[in-house]
Order: sequence, then C-alpha cells, then structure tokens
Amino acid sequence: MSTYILIFGNHPELSLAELKTRYPDYKLRAQGDDFVVVDLSTSIDQAEFNQLGGFIKAAESIKEVKKEAVAEGLVDVLRSHYQDSKLDYGLSLYGMSEKQLRPLLLKLKKRLKADGVKSRFINKDFKNISSAQYKSIRQKGIELIVVNSKGRTIIGRIVAVQNIDAYSKRDYDKPFRSMQMGMMPPKLAQILINLTGIKGRIWDPFCGSGTLIMEGLLMGCEMIGSDINLKHIEGAKRNIVWLKKEFGASSDAKLFAHDATKPLEEPFDAIAFEGDLGVPHNQSIKSDQLEVIAKGLDELYICFFENLKAMRCKVPIVCALPFFRLHNGREVELNCIHEIEKMGFKKNLHLKYSREHQAVGRVIYRFID
Ligand SMILES: C[S@@+](CC[C@H](N)C(=O)[O-])C[C@H]1O[C@@H](n2cnc3c(N)ncnc32)[C@H](O)[C@@H]1O
Repeated sequence: MSTYILIFGNHPELSLAELKTRYPDYKLRAQGDDFVVVDLSTSIDQAEFNQLGGFIKAAESIKEVKKEAVAEGLVDVLRSHYQDSKLDYGLSLYGMSEKQLRPLLLKLKKRLKADGVKSRFINKDFKNISSAQYKSIRQKGIELIVVNSKGRTIIGRIVAVQNIDAYSKRDYDKPFRSMQMGMMPPKLAQILINLTGIKGRIWDPFCGSGTLIMEGLLMGCEMIGSDINLKHIEGAKRNIVWLKKEFGASSDAKLFAHDATKPLEEPFDAIAFEGDLGVPHNQSIKSDQLEVIAKGLDELYICFFENLKAMRCKVPIVCALPFFRLHNGREVELNCIHEIEKMGFKKNLHLKYSREHQAVGRVIYRFID
C-alpha cells in the first residue's frame, strides 16, 4: 500500500465515487474540499492516472508535518532532491489559501540559498502550478504540494497530472463529431466506466460518436456500442480507426445499429452510457417545452429498462441522463427514475455533473440488481 494525495476535478463527489469503485481496497486517510488522501494497493503512475477522469493531479505522500514547520519540511525534501545542478521546483497548496504561497516560496528561496542549493521556483505570480507548467518541469525538476485538512498538514510529490492535450485531442480532433447530437467529454466517459467497477465487456446502447467506446478501449475494456442511428454508428467506426492510429488503441470495438429498447443477443458484463439528452446543452428551455421533451425521454428510458428487465439483465448499469435548469433556476429531473426503481433496479448513486450556465445538465445514476 502507498499513500497518495489526489486532487479532485470539478465534481468532487463524483471523483470520490470513481475512486472508491475503481480501487475497492482504498483506505481513506484525510479529505479536504479539493483533495483526498488515500492508501492504495495500486501504484499511481502517469499511465494509471490517465484512466481516472475525475482527478487533476496525483502526488505521492512524503511526510506529515506540523503546520508551523512546513517550510523546514519542504526545504528538507528539496535538499534531498538536489544534485549539484540548478533545481527547478514548483509548489501548490490545497486546503489552504493560495496567498500563503508568496511568503512560503520567498522563505524557501532564502533558506535554500543559505544552504548552497542552486534553485528556482517556477510558480507564476505566486499561483499554484498548472498542468502545462508541470509538463515543463517534469524532466528536470519536481512539483511539491502541501495539503491541509483539519489541522493535519501533508507534503507530497506530484507523480501524475491530467493530460489536457490528449483529452482535448480526443474530444475535438476526432473525425466524426456532431454538436446537434451532443457528445460527452472523454473525462466523463472514463468516470462512467470506472463507476461500473467492471474491467470486462461493456455495452454502450446509445453510443453516438463513440466517446465512451473510445475511452473504454484505451482503458483495456472490451467494448460493444450500438445506436439507433446508422450514421452515428458509421461515424463512431471512423472515430475508432482514428483512435487506433493516433492513440495506439490495440483492440477493436463491436459497433452496430440497434434500437436500445429491443433485446440484444450479445453478452456483456456492464452497461455504461450517456443517453439522449433531448436538446443540446447550451439551449435554454421554457417550461411548456420541457413537458414535451421530458415525456419523450421518460418513455424512451422506461422502454429501455423494461427491455433490460425482460432480458434478465443483472449487471451494473451506469448512465448519464439529463436534468433541466429552467429560467427561474428550478432544476427538474426525469420522472422515469421512480418507474425504473419500481421495476426492481436499485439506485445506489445519484450525482449531478454540469456547469453553472448549462440549461441541460447530466445526472449520473448507477443501478445494481
Ligand atoms: C447524446 S447522444 C450520445 C452521445 C455519445 N455519448 C457521444 O459522446 O457521442 C444520444 C444517442 O442516443 C441515440 N438514440 C436515441 N434513441 C435511441 C434508441 N431508442 N436506441 C438506440 N439509440 C438511441 C441517438 O441516436 C444518439 O446518438
């Protein structure tokens, strides 16, 4: 077991659920608003971290110090890393004000100089280190972090940072995209897959452009994708060919046209999908429109789950379904969830994923038998 500090993305509760499902033997050591400290039996390197959609940084915990001895603790760590040539370092603080960076960095500079350590901090304007800055020091320097939770102060060394360039390339550069259909961010696709807790054969019954299929292949899962729209299936196939070329994904996915409300003959170990959201995210909705949109979607998902029931489906089902933000700020979820629960599907996760301005957000549900 090693102790890691993981920094949450924008949806901490979802990140935590992802962590707990992917690493069921985790031990929680401490938690703050934007980070968690955990013991894990899996070692976190960049390759492992690339499969976690809910986190932005991972650090190996080095030591716990008294709050007033943070500077001394950091000097010790930096000194032990020094190898006679100039040492570049960055420092980020979580669970404490970023304003504390200025006095801390200036103190470190003075102390290291007095100790004969040639060093340079790369923090810009005394702000936390960004993913891009981390990339620039990874080869020749280190990024340290200090986290503070309920009076406990822990120093860690960054071992992995989210690869924003790779996420953005998969999101924006794939050959088939459709804003009208709406696509989910690759990070969310990873979270949904991790929330199944399954490494086997995963079915996305509403696969669209294949975002979840692409992420599943890169995570080493066997993927089946279907969609009622043949054009989307053809587009998803093109995206997989592109993924293999650009990201070296080694296996293929099974992709075919299929109405998700009809029985499927293929075997699978879990279902993960983003369903039809009704309208694109940025489109605002009036209450009278909502009734029509929600009615259609309720019917679709009731038919889909009834079909799963008829198929005697007993696997974990993780899905992103829409919720709607009205002009008056009220948030409305689909009614079908109650019907689905009445069918016997037990809901054990219910968390929102959205940005403030979005008229259509997503609710992430997990059902188990
Ligand atoms: C929001 S899109 C999914 C987008 C996908 N997650 C992505 O990132 O590309 C919803 C998809 O559900 C499909 N769909 C709608 N009704 C369906 C049904 N009854 N059976 C299968 N697919 C359906 C639509 O064709 C559309 O591609």
